[in-house]
Amino acid sequence: MGRVSAGNKLNEGEMRVLDIEGTKVSIAAAGGSLYAFDDACTHMGCSLGEGQLEGTTVTCPCHGSQFDVTSGAVIRGPAQQPVRVRSVQIEGDDLLVES
Ligand code: FES
Repeated sequence: MGRVSAGNKLNEGEMRVLDIEGTKVSIAAAGGSLYAFDDACTHMGCSLGEGQLEGTTVTCPCHGSQFDVTSGAVIRGPAQQPVRVRSVQIEGDDLLVES
């Protein structure tokens, strides 16, 4: 698990990109829960954390692929492969993210 300071808490609908042991991971606040997933889109590697979050769907800013942040599943291409999701827990002021 990678431990990072939660710092300013995420508000509903926000995303933040964190470095978890050398890999960029996006954290999204959706539906009262936090979800963590690899920041790199499986299409061509753009930052999903710089995309749009609507409910539990994130849209890549480059070519519009959509992923379900709860499972990593592709909702809409051009991406073909799911994005890796990671477990995330809040512990005090820190986030523990699966590495
Ligand atoms: S890099 Fe994300 S849709 Fe192309």
